Amino acid sequence: YNVPKAINEPVKSYAPGTKEREQVLATFKEMYNTSVDVPLYIGSEEIRTGKTKTINPPFDHKKTVGQYHEAEKQHVEQAIAAALSAKKKWASMAWEHRASIFLKAAELLAGPYRSKINAATMIAQAKTVHQAEIDSACELIDFLRFNVQFMAQIYAEQPVSSEGIWNRMEHRPLEGFVYAVTPFNFTAIAGNLPSAPALMGNVVVWKPSAGQVYSANVIMEVFKLAGLPDGVINMVHGSASMISDVLISSPDFAGVHFTGSTGVFNDIWTSIGKNISNYKTYPRIVGETGGKDFVVAHPSSIPAEVATALSRGAFEYQGQKCSAASRAYLPKSLWPAIKEHLLNDMASFKMGSPEDPSNFVSAVIHEASFDKLAKYIDEAKNAPDAEVIAGGGYDKSKGWFIEPTVIVTTNKKYDTLCTELFGPVLTIYIYEDSQWAETLKLVDETSPYALTGAIFSQDRYAIEEATKALENSAGNFYINDKPTGAVVGQQPFGGARASGTNDKAGSILNLLRWVSPRTIKETF
Ligand code: ALA
Repeated sequence: YNVPKAINEPVKSYAPGTKEREQVLATFKEMYNTSVDVPLYIGSEEIRTGKTKTINPPFDHKKTVGQYHEAEKQHVEQAIAAALSAKKKWASMAWEHRASIFLKAAELLAGPYRSKINAATMIAQAKTVHQAEIDSACELIDFLRFNVQFMAQIYAEQPVSSEGIWNRMEHRPLEGFVYAVTPFNFTAIAGNLPSAPALMGNVVVWKPSAGQVYSANVIMEVFKLAGLPDGVINMVHGSASMISDVLISSPDFAGVHFTGSTGVFNDIWTSIGKNISNYKTYPRIVGETGGKDFVVAHPSSIPAEVATALSRGAFEYQGQKCSAASRAYLPKSLWPAIKEHLLNDMASFKMGSPEDPSNFVSAVIHEASFDKLAKYIDEAKNAPDAEVIAGGGYDKSKGWFIEPTVIVTTNKKYDTLCTELFGPVLTIYIYEDSQWAETLKLVDETSPYALTGAIFSQDRYAIEEATKALENSAGNFYINDKPTGAVVGQQPFGGARASGTNDKAGSILNLLRWVSPRTIKETF
């Protein structure tokens, strides 16, 4: 295809003495001491409603780095109108021009905006510099570049024609507007969810999570600087239920691109059902939701490798990746060795502000999350069938800090082994070595989710058995690797069951959801 070949953006090291480290820390400092005023972006307007909420870093929650304006019902209606009035010109623009805007955005993020998007993600989402780099720089840039390649592939594939007959397929955008709902935990997802439908010629109303408004504002700045016309992506903040109600009850609602909790996605789906006879067309419903991601080790696995997968997979970004390992099933024979490695790894973790690059973890996103996690940790401390073997501390005096915590249980139905917690808490169940097949069944049946999972083994029969037994348990399945860190273009991402519609972000499958093709047959 005649588009620049997509390559994954290399991850910068931010090692002491590097230019990138100096730059990102200077940008962090500057942004930390400036106050932003985040408007709604509707058509060509930046609207400041005066109804505001403050933006507070999770690791320093008394500090304010700015505020954002919340929409009322009329602003959401205005956003729909702005999107629809931008639609005709945008949808008929030659795709190369649409593609160029997002490729330019990728270059801005790779170069002059790298420090700013990373610092924003560090400040408002409490990511360490490495976690910010792999998310808001690399993964977001990759989404933008690879999506252009997938788009070109979609347009290039045409049905077979024959002498006297010319069959053509037009990949038209959807009729109406797309609603993008993005989560706090990945800036890359925030950029991808509105831009993927827009790239395919759709217009979008985007509502970022409250915890992500700060970095979403930088993304809008980059999209605009890259030449995105007014009204193609409109950004609103405020009450999620009010915004959803207004958008989903519009006859022009054509689809939702969602990442967030299973509960909210279910509500959206229900509300679409209630409105189904009002729409011009059946809406596309694309969502990535919850997870209870697993690591299962066979007795043939290598203890140090399993321990590294657990310490990184469970605790990087405070366990707040949708892909984070939150339950592990380990064989009794290897448990002493795995435990030793795991506790050693964890002893080196430092916790604090992302401004200090030597910190491995920072605070969780907000008070509600902190309170929930603290409650589960306290319960485990007092439970007869569980033991807290690492961490267990928490402190909210300055930030929402929860120590990386490991709970070991003898109860295969123990609460934290089954419930999604979305934080730095790993629950381990030790199984008898002879119970491998039963353990695989247990892994499959313990949770309604199916996002990511990992199996560790040096025995090819065991690997094959696990791959089959867990075929529906994880949309992203890892063999001898941690269950986090899917790379765009390499491991298309998403899961089924209660984890979503499995339309694989960062793949052609996802972009195909944003077109409504017309087949044309012409006879000569
Ligand atoms: N790319 C992210 C991960 O796999 C979602 O952790």
